[in-house]
Amino acid sequence: MRTKKIMIHKDEGLILSVESLNEKLFKLKIYSPVFSLMAMPGNFCHLKVNEESFPLLRRAFSFHRVEKDKGTFELLFKVVGLGTELLSRKNPGEKIDLLAPLGNFFSFPRKDEKIVLSAGGMGIAPLLFFLNYLLEKKFNPERITLFFGVKKEKELILLDELSAMRIKIHLATEDGTIGFKGRITELFYQELKERRVKLKNTMFYACGPTPMLKKISDISKKHNLYCQISLENHMPCGIGACFGCVVKTINGYKRVCKDGPVFDAREVILD
Ligand SMILES: Cc1cc2nc3c(=O)[nH]c(=O)nc-3n(C[C@H](O)[C@H](O)[C@H](O)COP(=O)(O)OP(=O)(O)OC[C@H]3O[C@@H](n4cnc5c(N)ncnc54)[C@H](O)[C@@H]3O)c2cc1C
Ligand code: FES
Repeated sequence: MRTKKIMIHKDEGLILSVESLNEKLFKLKIYSPVFSLMAMPGNFCHLKVNEESFPLLRRAFSFHRVEKDKGTFELLFKVVGLGTELLSRKNPGEKIDLLAPLGNFFSFPRKDEKIVLSAGGMGIAPLLFFLNYLLEKKFNPERITLFFGVKKEKELILLDELSAMRIKIHLATEDGTIGFKGRITELFYQELKERRVKLKNTMFYACGPTPMLKKISDISKKHNLYCQISLENHMPCGIGACFGCVVKTINGYKRVCKDGPVFDAREVILD
């Protein structure tokens, strides 16, 4: 896998804004010149949601948007429990304790390759950073296809920005309100079987909930796709010390926080 390991740093970021996209989805903008300079697509940061000792454990979020020249980065997150609820109630001007950038990052395609990305729900967070990174590096947008699936229409965020990229986009909603009716993996597999997605000279990437990644992993094994998936296991320490985040692979157990979160989909065994 064409990825490199990087160093871990601790910083106190300054919260610049907390924007609500709908009742569950939020964008958090943080000023941290050192991390915005170091972050690569696929890396994550592990942050303390509270200054109090509870909740004790940090929470992990992918870098979603990075503006190196302004020293800022954004996280895109969904409120699912106490930690994300507390995060959504942060205010501009508050400090936030960060460990970052953690984990490995996506391998970059060669200029003559095509890429196909599949995002399920919040999986769009790191993939948007990856897309912006590639376009800044002058990767040809005509070589990029994005599959983006959500449960309901209101979760289909960032569409204006994605459309402006001039990449090919396939949308799916489970209730069928927009695009294909069903799961994004079904649409992806359909396009693959009907050969509208070409395997030759193509790199695949996927990010989303574990059941989606399991499907992608099964498809990758069956069709021998070189597909990188980003896993989102629970991460107590985030720095490789506790083994609380391990995933089974064909080469034994691996730590998602340290050996990942990006893995070759043919390598992991997701039950
Ligand atoms: C590398 C990495 C990158 C991530 N990037 C993002 C991101 O960009 N945006 C985003 O919204 N979320 C992301 N997550 C998931 C995020 O870390 C969890 O949603 C968050 O920790 C939940 O905290 P909580 O206290 O609100 O929920 P909790 O109270 O801890 O849990 C609430 C519910 O969410 C489930 N849950 C908690 N953590 C996870 C997890 N890591 N994976 C799956 N289910 C979980 C619990 O089982 C429970 O059902 C990422 C996770 C990892 C490991
Ligand atoms: S979270 Fe502790 S080893 Fe990965």
